Amino acid sequence: MANNFQPLVDRILKDGKSLEGGILKVDGFINHQLDPILIEQMCEEFTRRFDPNSYDKIITIEASGIAPAVILGLLLKKPVVFAKKKKPSTMSNMLVTEVFSFTKNTSYHVCVSGEFLTKGDRVLFIDDFLANGKAAVGIIDLCAQAQAEIVGMGFLIEKGFQAGGKLLRERQIHVESLATIESLDNCTITIAK
Ligand code: G4P
Repeated sequence: MANNFQPLVDRILKDGKSLEGGILKVDGFINHQLDPILIEQMCEEFTRRFDPNSYDKIITIEASGIAPAVILGLLLKKPVVFAKKKKPSTMSNMLVTEVFSFTKNTSYHVCVSGEFLTKGDRVLFIDDFLANGKAAVGIIDLCAQAQAEIVGMGFLIEKGFQAGGKLLRERQIHVESLATIESLDNCTITIAK
């Protein structure tokens, strides 16, 4: 059963658009223009769903995960690390993994410095969308390389009709999604109950 956060659901139904190919466009408040008030409310909800004492650091992947991750970090006074999609030439002790994007039908590298993701770190992963879960699996791999512990994964929007949620929950990961979309068929947004 979905555990939806009503202010986000209301906003998706008001301003979200369902595009051809099962894509939910939310660029008026998450992916392009940002609504900091809604993002703060969503992060407060994350502080209720994940015990703030259970993690020391928040991790995300650029670009759209950064805004909620930083607001959560600000609320809890915890550091935020964002994994990068381009390998910086100056990064030392780099951990790298490969992620395949179904949405974009291409693979890309995700990397993080071993300076900022280290053995014993207890991390919460935050991202905007959970679709097929490939980005999340990339983060699991980076954390394994660093010997860091993933305490949970929080998503603003889960596409319940794609495989990511099942995949992560089967791995016993504590997953929380603030709005779960049941279907985008016929360009209509149906929220999971
Ligand atoms: P996955 O990580 O769950 O496997 O997702 P997938 O490869 O299918 O998605 C690749 C990118 O597309 C991700 O963003 C993901 O957040 C985004 N995405 C997936 N489905 C939707 C959707 O229905 N609506 C929107 N708006 N985005 C979707 P990204 O490439 O990392 O982009 P960004 O974080 O740089 O914005």
